[in-house]
Amino acid sequence: MSKCLLVTGANGYIGSHMSKLLSFKGYRVIGVDNHSTSPANWVHSYAEKHSFDIRDTDRLTDLMKKENVEVVLHFAAKAIVSESQQTPFYYYRENIDSSISLLEAMNLANVSKLVFSSTCATYGIHEEVISEETEQKPVNTYGLTKKIVEDLIKDQASKKHIQAVILRYFNVAGCDPHGAIGENHEPETHLIPNLCQSILNKGKFCVYGDNFKTKDGSAVRDYIHVEDLVYYHYMALDYMQKNNFEWEAFNLGSGAGYSVLEVINVFKEITGNNFSYEIQLARVGDPACLVANNTKSKSVFEYQPKYSLKDMIEHTFNYLKSH
Ligand SMILES: NC(=O)c1ccc[n+]([C@@H]2O[C@H](COP(=O)([O-])OP(=O)(O)OC[C@H]3O[C@@H](n4cnc5c(N)ncnc54)[C@H](O)[C@@H]3O)[C@@H](O)[C@H]2O)c1
Repeated sequence: MSKCLLVTGANGYIGSHMSKLLSFKGYRVIGVDNHSTSPANWVHSYAEKHSFDIRDTDRLTDLMKKENVEVVLHFAAKAIVSESQQTPFYYYRENIDSSISLLEAMNLANVSKLVFSSTCATYGIHEEVISEETEQKPVNTYGLTKKIVEDLIKDQASKKHIQAVILRYFNVAGCDPHGAIGENHEPETHLIPNLCQSILNKGKFCVYGDNFKTKDGSAVRDYIHVEDLVYYHYMALDYMQKNNFEWEAFNLGSGAGYSVLEVINVFKEITGNNFSYEIQLARVGDPACLVANNTKSKSVFEYQPKYSLKDMIEHTFNYLKSH
């Protein structure tokens, strides 16, 4: 019988791409989602669908026991930085309480392997390229909640209750190249889908900050295609199986930094649309530059990102055009 994996947040942007890859690789995928930031109907059939909140510890425990779950991939969270600054208690409950419930359910159901979606927002502001050893000093509530969950996971791992891989994503972008699933948050706060929407819906596009200490004054970020990102999770499953460790953390990024203005230029080349944008003040707590040192993930998982920034834009544009 094929191995059974549980994906929290399976109806979301990254969780749906993860479910697709895992089901194509022959795993049985149990998807749990409360639809709080994704559509009320499931957007795919790559997982067995369970619509409830992971803070329901009893239901989660029963599900894990009944289905003989072996590994959990934990994506469910709220992930909008500005919202986290405005409503910190909401974020504590959504991200920390839900992860405590998950860890407890894993304990009760004797599930010992966990892959956790963390973020570069746990690092805060640094001058240099960020490695896994860079100090984690989050500057917003979202980053703080993820850092706290990392600490809880490390505590559980040190007590030998779980073995965990913590994956710290940089900016995830792109969609399924065949257009079956994609990124369509409401509200959308990510650069590439917002650029696409501004053309498709003829809306206004704003660049936040043109006075950073970067090559052209706009903020620099590291973009990784969602297909590459989920492939790393797949490799992490194999790595956990073959190696004996309590927990390990990895940066997932492409290792290349693109400024907002550079992304806009690539976007204009691809779409042939010479649209205009407005410059606004930089958002509070927005670092000038967030670029991953991705040496560890590339060497340990023996995989390097294969999709380019151009692919991320093309796949997103095509997906949004047809949805
Ligand atoms: N998208 C990025 O660029 C990025 C970058 C860094 C980290 N991350 C992390 O990756 C994960 C997935 O991000 P995403 O962009 O796919 O977000 P998303 O909002 O598209 O997906 C999250 C899913 O989790 C579900 N969910 C939320 N709380 C839940 C709960 N308590 N119980 C059950 N389901 C719940 C939502 O309904 C949604 O379907 C998050 O943990 C996020 O912090 C994302």
